[in-house]
Amino acid sequence: MLRVTIDNISIEVPAGTSILNAARMIGGEVTPPAMCYYSKLKESGGKCRTCLVEVSKGSEKDPRPMPKLVASCRTGVMDGMEVKNITSEKVVDARKGVVEMLLINHPLDCPVCDQAGECHLQDLSYEHGTEGTRYEFDRRTFEKEDIGPYISLHMTRCILCYRCVNTAAELTNKREHGVLERGDHSEISTLLGKSLDNEFIGNVIDVCPVGALTDKTFRFKNRVWFTKPVDVHRDCPTCSGKARAWMRGDEVFRVTARKDQWGEVEDWICNTCRFDKKETKDWVVEGPSKIDRRSVISQGHYVGTEKTQVLIDKVIGKDPKLTLDIHSISDVNKPEIELSKIDGPAHSEDFKTKQD
Ligand code: SF4
Ligand code: FES
Repeated sequence: MLRVTIDNISIEVPAGTSILNAARMIGGEVTPPAMCYYSKLKESGGKCRTCLVEVSKGSEKDPRPMPKLVASCRTGVMDGMEVKNITSEKVVDARKGVVEMLLINHPLDCPVCDQAGECHLQDLSYEHGTEGTRYEFDRRTFEKEDIGPYISLHMTRCILCYRCVNTAAELTNKREHGVLERGDHSEISTLLGKSLDNEFIGNVIDVCPVGALTDKTFRFKNRVWFTKPVDVHRDCPTCSGKARAWMRGDEVFRVTARKDQWGEVEDWICNTCRFDKKETKDWVVEGPSKIDRRSVISQGHYVGTEKTQVLIDKVIGKDPKLTLDIHSISDVNKPEIELSKIDGPAHSEDFKTKQD
């Protein structure tokens, strides 16, 4: 086992663990965001740079810090390593830059995008982005391309994370799409205009962190926060049959794979389960899904909603409320004066003691 300290919290992890996965074992805010890494895929990560961290001590044997910020999804833990994520100003600043870069070419069409409410880029920009943009040029545009009966491609929203390409390469035996061209001309496309009709290809919709790949059978039918996620299963000869139905009343609007706390698919599902089984009678309902990402969906107070673990007190080594304690430096707001007992709003007179 190797000992690593991330944002002042130490943990022992098996050799070969990446910094990102070690941070996920700790959980909470110390976990860097990841837009391209996907633990369920053999090949992923190293593309988006949202998971950058500062290694302030390389290891016990070689304590020199790493000269540049490193991608935590691609960097392995060393014994005695010390890593800074939210405690590093450099990381916070670099992450803002990465978000700005990703948003340079991403249209701000959240009000009409089906992914809104469950978009990782939306979450990322709220949590790590800046308010405005410095970009003044026209954004990229692409010829609209029909990539098949089930999946709609909005190339302008793609952040080129390669997750869909890796998913298709792993789950299907005739991958027909990939990233074509180079640089800012790069685009996801089907080779020779072939449609994506493989039995497991629907999973690319679930792995896409943004609204570039969406479900044609659900598009514009409802906003995700108006639907209620329910864990369901069926006896499926092709896949595990364990899925999540997004319902409104008794209607099944959409079927997706179940996702874990990192927003990653737990079990891949087949196209029949995803696109053809849209009746309640097709499924055995297990109960409301646990939604534990800080997304708008979890604001619906569903049964079993899990709040993200808060670790800030461990990171900064004291109760965060104490950083706001002004009693030691100010004569006002004396702690022995209970504001709730004062009749009406508090005035300076209320804080005068007998000696004053
Ligand atoms: S379409 Fe989605 S999953 Fe595929 S590369 Fe673009 S952003 Fe990633
Ligand atoms: S998640 Fe590490 S580079 Fe994208």
